[in-house]
Amino acid sequence: MTTLSPQTATPPSPTRGVHVITWGCQMNVYDSARMQDVLRPLGFTPVDTPETAEIIILNTCHIRDKAAEKVFSELGRLRLIKEARKIRGQQTLIAVAGCVAQAEGEELLTRAPYVDIVLGPQTYHRLPDMLANAARTGKAVIDIDFPTEQKFDFLPQNETPQSPNYPTAFLTIQEGCDKFCSFCVVPYTRGAENSRPVSTILEEAKRLVDLGVRDISLLGQNVNAYHGVGPDGNLWSLARLAYELAKIPALLRIRYTTSHPRDMDDTLIAAHRDLPQLMPFLHLPVQSGSDRILRAMNRGHTASNYIDIVHRLREARPDIALSSDFIVGYPGETDEDFNATMRLVQKVGFALAYSFKYSPRPGTPAAEAPLQIPEDIKNTRLQILQKILHEQQDTFNDQLVGHSIPVLFTSRGRKQGQIVGRSPWLQPVHINGPEHLIGQERLVRITARLSHSLDGILEGNI
Ligand code: SAH
Ligand code: SF4
Ligand code: F3S
Repeated sequence: MTTLSPQTATPPSPTRGVHVITWGCQMNVYDSARMQDVLRPLGFTPVDTPETAEIIILNTCHIRDKAAEKVFSELGRLRLIKEARKIRGQQTLIAVAGCVAQAEGEELLTRAPYVDIVLGPQTYHRLPDMLANAARTGKAVIDIDFPTEQKFDFLPQNETPQSPNYPTAFLTIQEGCDKFCSFCVVPYTRGAENSRPVSTILEEAKRLVDLGVRDISLLGQNVNAYHGVGPDGNLWSLARLAYELAKIPALLRIRYTTSHPRDMDDTLIAAHRDLPQLMPFLHLPVQSGSDRILRAMNRGHTASNYIDIVHRLREARPDIALSSDFIVGYPGETDEDFNATMRLVQKVGFALAYSFKYSPRPGTPAAEAPLQIPEDIKNTRLQILQKILHEQQDTFNDQLVGHSIPVLFTSRGRKQGQIVGRSPWLQPVHINGPEHLIGQERLVRITARLSHSLDGILEGNI
């Protein structure tokens, strides 16, 4: 899934404050909002700054780079805030959640003894107990089990859309991963693949729509491997779930992320043909265009499998745009392997892509592999790849100029009188228009492409 820049949570409160700092993927954004839901019945309201918070939660990501180092440096800052609050007679609990917490566990407490709670992605429904224990004993609490119960069965109903971009929201339907790509920590930090039952997903989706949400992104580390129990007792696929969600009248847009090429089956491709609500934009990570490297990565597909899926998707839904993730400098990657990636990029043509230098993750097989690639070669390859990916993104955005497209307005723009929305392909679109359009979808004629967004003028109703 796409990683996001740090995000903080919403409005100040005169009562008990909780401040959540979120790093990592969309699922962490969803989890952070759910942690706030768990704390709300205890009287906690989200606050914008850690200085005013009785509880500070750092929701972490372990996917690349020196994840733990980043966490410790942020914790150093939070420690000072905790000490300053103590001088003022205010108690503060610091909790570390998410994938670094899961991976580091007790180690976190050894290096940062001022942390009060360490909790994993699968245990945050128990936050109230953890808080009570930490407050009662004055000792740190650590809860990073993979419990037999599903946290979703214990979470209170969500009262706000999870994304700060109302009327869009995330909805986790599947979590964890059994694929064990040789470079990746996710199967270790999120645990085994687990799909939520259909009924709870439909309930949550309807609740979000009642709250005004019009664009739902279904989330999962392997979202298209979804196989949840349906109301009929059978296992439902993602395609079947999408057909059911499309029956919710005011739900205009359905997306899902992140998909794996191995699970991109015919029924899901057919759903793209049949359901106008299923947005014509798919994030389908390929990682590499070299079969040799794909095999070493344990991806379970070849470059031509991927290209074939893209053809079939485009046949089913001609306006579908593809987005992807790439890793350069995987152990043993030769110039020829890298060129194969460049060829795949040229063949497919991506509307958006995220590309990363391979980052060895402790405990994963690739970290131990021989032939680690020197940093300067990784840098050069990344630059070459990113240049073509940016060009493709610009080409894709350019071809929308002069066309009318549906835009769902999500927020005010930075400039006076400006509002911002989202195209079906996820580009931000700016127009001059009235704020009451936020939450609604309108036709917009695109007038210009900026570096990462589009400008347009309001045309009218869809
Ligand atoms: N479940 C998704 C993505 C998970 S992580 C999938 O199967 O593709 C998001 C992206 O981070 C990955 O697609 C991959 O491109 C990148 N990534 C994961 N581990 C990495 C590592 N060790 N080094 C560099 N990039 C990595
Ligand atoms: Fe990681 Fe691979 Fe699972 Fe994606 S499919 S989460 S890259 S192990
Ligand atoms: Fe990061 Fe964990 Fe998501 S490692 S990308 S927060 S699943």
